[in-house]
Amino acid sequence: MKISTRLWIAVTAVLTLASLFIKFYFLPAAERFTRLSVEEQIHRDMVAFEKIIGVVVTAANGDQDYVRRALYAISADKTIPIELRRSDFLNSQFGVRKDRVPQNDFERRVLQSAQAAFRQTDQFIEYAYPLKAQPICQTCHVGADNKAIALGQPVGLAIRRLPLSALSESRISYFTLDLFWENFGLLVVCMLGLLVPVWWWVLRPLSRFSAESEGIIHRRDMADDSDKTVLLPESEKMPEEWRSIRRIIDDARDR
Ligand code: HEC
Repeated sequence: MKISTRLWIAVTAVLTLASLFIKFYFLPAAERFTRLSVEEQIHRDMVAFEKIIGVVVTAANGDQDYVRRALYAISADKTIPIELRRSDFLNSQFGVRKDRVPQNDFERRVLQSAQAAFRQTDQFIEYAYPLKAQPICQTCHVGADNKAIALGQPVGLAIRRLPLSALSESRISYFTLDLFWENFGLLVVCMLGLLVPVWWWVLRPLSRFSAESEGIIHRRDMADDSDKTVLLPESEKMPEEWRSIRRIIDDARDR
């Protein structure tokens, strides 16, 4: 096989391996990274939301109607992408509201465990965040037995739902895609940077050498033919040195 063919096979193999690595390692890793960043952002939004609720209920200064109006305004505002759920404690305090009971097992589990969690459905990433009771909450959220809700127990849930397209449209995912093409481009440039000197210093002289040797053989064969009249034994017609030179030339011609 010619050296140049072997080189092309090697280059193709390296680039194929690189694209497999990118497909099965780099892209999933980039996707995980994007997801983590988006989740981090959702979590920070949620912490900010919880702080605002804290400020509102503190500003209410014991006025329950004020809190009721504020909570109503929040749920009526469709640009605030957060829904609220009520715990059993709230249900027993204010009565059940159908749109405020946990909607599925996922939400029930978070309410029970008091551990915030993400889940992915067909179309959405969902974040369920327990709004845990702080001392200020205990001033209004008091049960029928006159006992305030326990500190740290979820008063309710805040639910954030984000379409999955938020992941692919995230700037971070554009950035990682950019990174991918830049890396791949760099690899291709490196391969070319390697091949050019190989071609210049190895392949080009070799092909000149084989062209040159072609000529030598040709001339020598012509000379041999004209010598045929003088009957020399084969070994003398082609001394050992000449035969090894010829082997080298034949070998070079293949490359
Ligand atoms: C000033 C009194 C007051 C304080 C303090 C207070 N709440 Fe409430 N909370 C209410 C009232 C009133 C409602 C509405 C009940 C209703 O729907 O009739 C309510 C409802 C809620 C709901 C359900 C919202 C809904 O839309 O169904 C959650 C969740 C909640 N409170 C969490 C908290 C948390 C967390 C704290 C502490 C950081 C807190 N509350 C402090 C008075 C208060």
